[in-house]
Amino acid sequence: MNLFVNPKRAPDRPAELAVLIGEQQMEEAFREVSTWPDYRPTPLRALSGFARLHGLGEVLYKDESDRFGLGSFKALGGAYAVFRLLQRIAASQTGSSNLSYADLRSEELAEVVSRVTVCCATDGNHGRAVAWAARQLGCKCVVFLHERVSAARAGAIARFGARIERVSGNYDDSVMCAARAAQLNGWHLVSDTSHAGDAEAPLNVMTGYTVMVQEIVLQLRGRNPPTHVFVQAGVGGLAAAVVAALWSRFGAELPAIVVVEPERADCLLRSARAGTPVKVQGQLDTVMAGLACGEVSPVAWSILERGASHFMTISDEQALSMMRALATAGYGDPPLVCGESAVAGIAALAAATRTSEIAAALGLTPGSRILVFGTEGDTDPELFAAVSGTTAAAIRSLQS
Ligand SMILES: Cc1ncc(COP(=O)(O)O)c(C=O)c1O
Repeated sequence: MNLFVNPKRAPDRPAELAVLIGEQQMEEAFREVSTWPDYRPTPLRALSGFARLHGLGEVLYKDESDRFGLGSFKALGGAYAVFRLLQRIAASQTGSSNLSYADLRSEELAEVVSRVTVCCATDGNHGRAVAWAARQLGCKCVVFLHERVSAARAGAIARFGARIERVSGNYDDSVMCAARAAQLNGWHLVSDTSHAGDAEAPLNVMTGYTVMVQEIVLQLRGRNPPTHVFVQAGVGGLAAAVVAALWSRFGAELPAIVVVEPERADCLLRSARAGTPVKVQGQLDTVMAGLACGEVSPVAWSILERGASHFMTISDEQALSMMRALATAGYGDPPLVCGESAVAGIAALAAATRTSEIAAALGLTPGSRILVFGTEGDTDPELFAAVSGTTAAAIRSLQS
């Protein structure tokens, strides 16, 4: 486990960052997404047993395991970016502005929308979100998967009618393939990272993620705000969206933001240490599939470089044992459906409380109130069953 204290953290939101994901864009995203069929806020669960056993005041777990039935928070970002792209294309061809989700699904626009092909690279969840939105809105979709993405994750994307392209190498290689294919074929790249193209789609993806944080702000109404947020990172888009939304709500009172990565895919921690983006090469071999990224998203980095207070890494063993404990009520709280990437933040929190120097460096005390993000459910059901010894259906029957 590594910890790096960010010397560049800004006390308040720098003006140039306020415009990247502004208040107006966040409000628009919330207004739009909350009208979508089957939208409902996901639960913010108080894990009082976990908090007590780890000597903390409060631990709140934003449970994204059932977001839009897709099993991860990623549904918010990829789908919102596809929506914004089609809205722009349809507006340029029809002259109508402010088209809604329902407008884009209407018969009048079916022809315009069906001519569009979106594409993206993914390690599972982003591609599922993009394919889902493409199916709902009626455009075509091609998803690039690197060689280590499991068959279960590929199947969950193909289920929405997307064409799957397998590529050799790691996540970052698949991002480059998707960008090249988009250029060659006239497709529209809906990437969750800005390192292979422009920042429009990645910013829309991140703006979509802020819907989750805006829900949390409403769910926290009348309660004390968190002192710490532990949020896991792949390319950093999620963590940057969390910072942007919390900065807009709390300004200089921004809680400590601890960004957590797998030991073998720690591009953000290395970048923070070097003071400039650093690439991690190789297989990025970690069980936390959603976090197996070797290159930061530059647009996310510009926010995290100033907004994150700490960068931490955890091992696969720490993630797997947390997954098992949370799925089997190991701390006395109701069991949770939590995938390998979902538990990275809370696993880092647990590990930090066990090492006094790290707890002190993070300022963790019995009065601390911590927010963590359970970013996915059993997005790979076989793996979830193998690790936890139970199933999502069994857990959900206990939750209700
Ligand atoms: C379940 C899950 N959690 C967290 C993340 C990290 O998000 P980001 O790549 O934006 O840092 C991902 C990314 O795919 C994910 O799938």
